[in-house]
Amino acid sequence: MSKKTKADDIGDLSEKEAAAELKRLAAEIKRHDASYYLLDAPSITDAAYDALRARNTALEAKFPKLVLEDSPNKRVGATPATGFSKVTHAVPMLSLGNAFTEEDVAEFIDRVRRFLSLPEDAVVEVTAEPKIDGLSFSARYEDGRLVVAATRGDGAEGEDITANLKTIGAMPLKLKGKAPGLIEIRGEVFMTKKDFAKLNAAQAAKNAKVFANPRNAAAGSLRQLDPNVTASRPLRIYAYTWGALEGMSWDTKMEFLEQLEAWGFPVNERSKLCKSVPEMIKAYNKLGEDRADLPYDIDGIVYAVNNLAWQKRLGFVSRSPRWAIAHKFSAEQAQTTLERIEIQVGRTGALTPVAHLTPVNVGGVMVARATLHNEDEIARKDIREGDTVIIQRAGDVIPQVVEVLAEKRPKGSKAYVFPDKCPVCKSLAVREEDEAVRRCTGGLSCAAQAVERMRHFVSREAFDIEGLGEKNIEAFFADGLVKSPADLFTLEKRDGRAKLMEHEGWGEKSLDNLFLAIERRRTVPLERFIYALGIRQVGQATARLLAHAYGTCESWRKAMMAAKDEDSDAYRDLINIEQIGPSVATDLVTFFAEKHNRDILDALDQELTIEAFKAPEVGDSPIAGKTLVFTGTLVTLGRSEAKAQAQTLGAKVAGSVSKKTDLVVAGPGAGSKLKEAEALGVKVISEEEYLALIAR
Ligand code: IVH
Repeated sequence: MSKKTKADDIGDLSEKEAAAELKRLAAEIKRHDASYYLLDAPSITDAAYDALRARNTALEAKFPKLVLEDSPNKRVGATPATGFSKVTHAVPMLSLGNAFTEEDVAEFIDRVRRFLSLPEDAVVEVTAEPKIDGLSFSARYEDGRLVVAATRGDGAEGEDITANLKTIGAMPLKLKGKAPGLIEIRGEVFMTKKDFAKLNAAQAAKNAKVFANPRNAAAGSLRQLDPNVTASRPLRIYAYTWGALEGMSWDTKMEFLEQLEAWGFPVNERSKLCKSVPEMIKAYNKLGEDRADLPYDIDGIVYAVNNLAWQKRLGFVSRSPRWAIAHKFSAEQAQTTLERIEIQVGRTGALTPVAHLTPVNVGGVMVARATLHNEDEIARKDIREGDTVIIQRAGDVIPQVVEVLAEKRPKGSKAYVFPDKCPVCKSLAVREEDEAVRRCTGGLSCAAQAVERMRHFVSREAFDIEGLGEKNIEAFFADGLVKSPADLFTLEKRDGRAKLMEHEGWGEKSLDNLFLAIERRRTVPLERFIYALGIRQVGQATARLLAHAYGTCESWRKAMMAAKDEDSDAYRDLINIEQIGPSVATDLVTFFAEKHNRDILDALDQELTIEAFKAPEVGDSPIAGKTLVFTGTLVTLGRSEAKAQAQTLGAKVAGSVSKKTDLVVAGPGAGSKLKEAEALGVKVISEEEYLALIAR
């Protein structure tokens, strides 16, 4: 491989030669990065670029002492072990006020004049820059070196994304030329529309997450714990302003933008100066016309007062500067034909209507489908198949149908009748009172629901069967190999090994692993079993409560059948379980009323050993017999799960603090209960301390 030869070709370089070569490579790689990231015009082939990097890496490995401070390899940092740590912005990151009309823009300039006591006809120059629809970042440079970079977060405190931002080729690790002692550079991380489409195609090909829009893709790529993943994503940046600053100054924003470029930052090439409101409107209209053709998504134009001494005087009002405003574009709309309405079925059986459209370009993105929300929405707007409709997409939102052009309606068109049968399994689809959605009652016998539920069944919190991804489940289902959860446990018996060997992607070893993973789960605790069934509203906490209350699978099933009758003791017992109300009870009873659900339970019963609920030895638990109060946000457990768990450990969980309270577990945001506990002298611990306590 030519790459290898080139990289290996470093054998006889002296230390001095190697140092010179590393410097040359760093500069050359940087130059190619710049043409790729800044100019959008790669100057060499990918292979040649890779060869340069390989050579650089080989040289660095041989001469570790010579690794340059701005080595191209330093762009990929180490993997942080846990989540992101927090960074406090030296100067908060604020938001911008909005202008929607020409009057709003004129009013902004008038306000500036009034505030500064300028004459009515004084010229107020502003910069006009595209407002990029990405994520803002703040990068702190000390003496010209990048020390830390963060997301906006809540404006005061963001997440440390230094390692990730460093992987973006266009991000200077060191400012070129004269640099201030301290500056927080602010800008936007984004992905181009083209790169977004490419990334999504690649993701889809490997059955990985696809993103809704370039902004989400950029966010998802930036918020990766592993910077190597970020490095593999085509992210770009534009810099536009600063936060904290010490040791340098400029007269105008335009000069600052030039400085940004001189330091090595990409600055939006369309940034320009406007000297009057009509010029601002002209810039806005022009940008609006070009919007669809721009390589990236924008949602408006940002005007900022050019004179920095004025900016300083203008200052801020609440959370936004007086010296800048965002002139927003209205959501992008287009006219097209609604060809047909499709009904999709989700895991819980919810029927969701989706409009299939004649594909149309809406602000640069081809749109072929739009959400119709639910049946009331269709009725309210009288949306019919064959209608000419106006659709709209705005930022993150899935395209929507705004209105129907009734005058263009074809003759003989009929109002849409929402189906009362599931389009997949033909079971009755019912809509409960006070509910917006209609649901398929087919349960696990409905193919659409079955695949979704099966995914839930094998998920980590349920049966935790490793190696069974979504793709496998769909393939198994399509082949008829595994139609319901119990089929998993008979797969090997039914000669599944031979059948699967014919499938792409399965070999002896992966099948050994799969069957081992399945065998390991033949014995399952009752609470996991109940949760795995995917009954509506029965999450982990509720499953545990049920397991606790009924003990064995057999008595749980008996009780659920008997609870059908609302006058029965069984029903009363059920709703008397703390935290189980009539609504959950109805979902349980409905589940058991379906014969196919009972059949599935029978089949599972044949294959599994469902362990009776093991009540923890009450005497053993450090919280047994104690009265606890949870308050604030519980990060790890969540409130209801914490409650259920405490109860199974023999504690009583109360809703308010009193003298009888033994312990208060307080998460962030705890308020009055925390104060009461302090006033009464009740012991207060954090969630972390609590987890440590019950883990003993
Ligand atoms: S100037 C005080 N310029 O818009 C804030 N912001 O709505 C000064 N944005 O958080 C920001 N492009 O994420 C500015 N050319 C641009 C921008 C821009 C996008 C974002 C930025 C900010 C948000 C405010």
